[in-house]
Amino acid sequence: MSEARRFENIIVRKEDKIGWIVLNRPHRLNAMTIELLNELSAALDEFEADGDVRCIIITGAGERAFSVGADVTSFSSLTPITAVEASSKGQEVISKIEKISKPVIAAINGYALGGGLELALACDFRIASETSQLGQPEIKLGIIPGWGGTQRLPRIVGLAKAKELIMLGDRIVADEALRIGLVHKVVQIDKFEEEVKAFARKLAEGPPVALKCAKYALNLSTQTSLETGLRVEAEAFGMVMASKDVIEGITAFFEKRKPEFKGE
Ligand code: COA
Repeated sequence: MSEARRFENIIVRKEDKIGWIVLNRPHRLNAMTIELLNELSAALDEFEADGDVRCIIITGAGERAFSVGADVTSFSSLTPITAVEASSKGQEVISKIEKISKPVIAAINGYALGGGLELALACDFRIASETSQLGQPEIKLGIIPGWGGTQRLPRIVGLAKAKELIMLGDRIVADEALRIGLVHKVVQIDKFEEEVKAFARKLAEGPPVALKCAKYALNLSTQTSLETGLRVEAEAFGMVMASKDVIEGITAFFEKRKPEFKGE
């Protein structure tokens, strides 16, 4: 991928082992169309295959929004059948974020509503600017979340809070999102990019094989029995032991220096 390859609905760039995906429809507060979803999917595939990219940041263009969700202008033409397809398509692309082997950060720089929040829920980390507002407002339009909100939100904030957010549809501010565990961190707007980059850099300098296995086992923990999860953890632990990064990690520890992981 070129350093600043241009898509039409997203901006994709690489910088210091970090892959950036900027949702780029600021005139519509980065509302997502099918074209945007397709581009997001392609960018994720390219970053997954690119050994130089160790961590991915997804954020929104402009000052106001991460993303306000699905572009509702297309909703009036949906039939029950095409609505199922649209929901499945969004779920598929958003699930790709969860399945990708590298850590993904949602840098929430404003509204994260509806599908915008659902996209952020599939990321491994959510960092919000202090002025961000988050929510699942679909119920106010007479619909329900369709890109994973009813499933991922309760896994992150618990069933009671998820019911409140989805069935009332009210937006919450960043500090409240932090209090309920919906975001990992809230950052002042003037320090936002710097703090997001510092967080990403820590992940990008980590051991890629171990991070991949940790992400896989952690995500599985919400979907499987303890017994199966523990078995998977033991096997992943064994796999990680075969990596050169372990040798580097342990050698660096005894040499009292910072390890340089290669992802091998
Ligand atoms: N899909 C398509 N366009 C959207 C959109 C969406 N989900 N959300 C906002 N927009 C558009 C608006 O129509 C407006 O376009 P216009 O300038 O051509 O009129 C533009 O983005 C700016 O939004 P606007 O509503 O004027 O800004 P605001 O500051 O008054 O309100 C929000 C901001 C986010 C509170 C409000 O836009 C909103 O509630 N959006 C819907 C969010 C939502 O329900 N998402 C779930 C969809 S299933």
